[in-house]
Amino acid sequence: MELSAVGGPGQRLLYGGDYNPEQWPPEVWEEDVRLMREAGVNMVTVGVFAWAHLEPAEGTFDFGWLRQVLDLLAGAGIDADLATPTAAPPPWLTTRYPDVLPVDDHGNRYSHGSRQHFCVCNPTYRRLAGRIVQQLAAELGDHPAVRMWHAHNEYACHVPYCYCDHHATAFRNWLERRYGTINTLNDAWGGAFWSQHYSDFAEVLPPRMTPAHANPGQLLDYKRFTSEAFLEEFLEEKKVLKAVRPDIPLTTNFMGFRKPLDYFAWAREMDVVSTDNYPDPADPDSPALSAMHYDLIRSLNKNVPWMVMEQTTSRVNWRERNVPKSPGQMRGLSYQALARGASGVLFFQWRASRAGAEKFHSALLPHSGVASPVWAEVAGLGRELARPAPWAASEVLARAAVVFSWPNWWAVESTVSPAHDLTLVEQARWMYLPLYRRCVTLDFASPAEDLTRYDALLVPSLYLVTQDEAANIRAYVEQGGTAVISFWSGIVDEHDQVYLGPYGGPLRPLIGCDILDVAPLPPGDVAQVQWEDGTTTTASFWLDIAAERQDRNATILARVTSGPWAGTPVVTRSQYGQGHVYYVGTRLDADGLQRVYDLVPALRGIADFAAGRPEGVERVVRRSPGHDYEFVINHTDSDSKVLLAEPGYDELGERAADGTLALGRRGVAIIRH
Ligand code: GAL
Repeated sequence: MELSAVGGPGQRLLYGGDYNPEQWPPEVWEEDVRLMREAGVNMVTVGVFAWAHLEPAEGTFDFGWLRQVLDLLAGAGIDADLATPTAAPPPWLTTRYPDVLPVDDHGNRYSHGSRQHFCVCNPTYRRLAGRIVQQLAAELGDHPAVRMWHAHNEYACHVPYCYCDHHATAFRNWLERRYGTINTLNDAWGGAFWSQHYSDFAEVLPPRMTPAHANPGQLLDYKRFTSEAFLEEFLEEKKVLKAVRPDIPLTTNFMGFRKPLDYFAWAREMDVVSTDNYPDPADPDSPALSAMHYDLIRSLNKNVPWMVMEQTTSRVNWRERNVPKSPGQMRGLSYQALARGASGVLFFQWRASRAGAEKFHSALLPHSGVASPVWAEVAGLGRELARPAPWAASEVLARAAVVFSWPNWWAVESTVSPAHDLTLVEQARWMYLPLYRRCVTLDFASPAEDLTRYDALLVPSLYLVTQDEAANIRAYVEQGGTAVISFWSGIVDEHDQVYLGPYGGPLRPLIGCDILDVAPLPPGDVAQVQWEDGTTTTASFWLDIAAERQDRNATILARVTSGPWAGTPVVTRSQYGQGHVYYVGTRLDADGLQRVYDLVPALRGIADFAAGRPEGVERVVRRSPGHDYEFVINHTDSDSKVLLAEPGYDELGERAADGTLALGRRGVAIIRH
């Protein structure tokens, strides 16, 4: 796919946002386009929620207004990312066909009056969605402004799960395809438990409200099925859009760590992976969490570019208290995305609405107009991004990856866990954050993909692991890789059925002790951990009850020394083939985890780099054949000084940078070495 139309590594950087001209009278459009040019905007997403304006009555279409907008954009040299409006069915549709509305697990039907109020398995929705996509593509697909396709908006955002009869039918068909016979399904779901043995697929339901825990196998399959059901609708849209304009890239906007859709599977279908990211400006951890979000997105499909489809210039409107970004924060977080490989940064939305549920959400053009300080920042960043950016063609360097999988996410947080507050994203953060603080850039990787490109893997709670995935990880270690594996890994197979014997299942050969049981710790409990050299750190949340194994080439690096399980090994190092495994059977504090990371060369690679990194300053290195580029971003509201390993030239500040780099509050530098 030729991506030069939209940017892509080494091309111009995309800058712009969602543009909703249907919310404004036509006389505003000209001003919009004039101000977009002033702000350096080069791409806007149009049409996202415009179904009611594009098809005001069933079968009656009006594309004239959008054509007029596209003409204005084309005249100003601004590209359109043309979106299908299928995330917001109009009121006539759900009034005439009420069963298009989704149903919750209690049997309550949603109403129209908001958005995302559709059942993706409803044949009427699919027919009418297909038709509006077809019409849109036929009418406007070849317009010269249109340079990217944007299917739908945030699939599965507000109503990820529908439990209606259409879903029941589609789920049964899906199960029949997956299992063939009802007894295979019974075996997979453990039908002998609580008399859940089915005699026919017709008896199977979506996991609607039940008196006690639903069957975990059923819950897991419903999640798999739902991700695929949405994907099927996306693929229908893709087929139509690509038939009309195969030459332009297609995307749909993801939402970072969003549980309902298996984004590794989805990303295979994208020409550009795009994401919406709304870090909380009030959360001091938000730069780190935002970095983690971008590292995930960059990693979902390693063969295509990625971009930020939405972020905000200042406030959102959906938190309890919506703190604005402080001056410079929007620029800093935009450069964070670019540092981590984004091809551009777009925002929700161009012009702040006067009416509707998001009228107090910030925008590129705020209610106060060009007098707003936000506008000055928006236009400043636009000017900066229009300058040549040789660094944009360089590669993000990541020698290590976090192993992450959606089926594992679905299963590990199932209702029947020993610790219902064990969440996979929290586990990933626990392993990711110390490395973010040491400026170690990480990729994410699916357990099924080729892992050999990495020198080290972090494996947070890979509870569900298939035999094939485990074999892939074992082969990776055997050939010389290093894996840091956390507790609650290798527990169940793809049906969420426990691997018997000491825990670890097909990962057990990698684990340097026998995990005989697990002990979630009471909230607030802190356990003492003693290391080989006698020093201590702490741990919390969870303890594996583990026994030493003599038959494995393992060293016990640390034991818990307090509480009822004092003496239990909690960190082991073992050799497997040419590689090594560090097994961590508790939630070590940051100090303790760092001790493990210090033993892994790929995880301490730029430690001296970290020494020259004051609190709150992010550093990311990218490499091109000619140069390394070091991004230095001050995420704080105070001035900062950063020690550089070698002198270089600051591409952004257009200044020489020797040993010490002074960065103002929220300052950014891109040092070419
Ligand atoms: C996104 C959505 C946008 C807008 C934005 C507000 O999730 O795609 O349409 O609602 O949130 O933050």
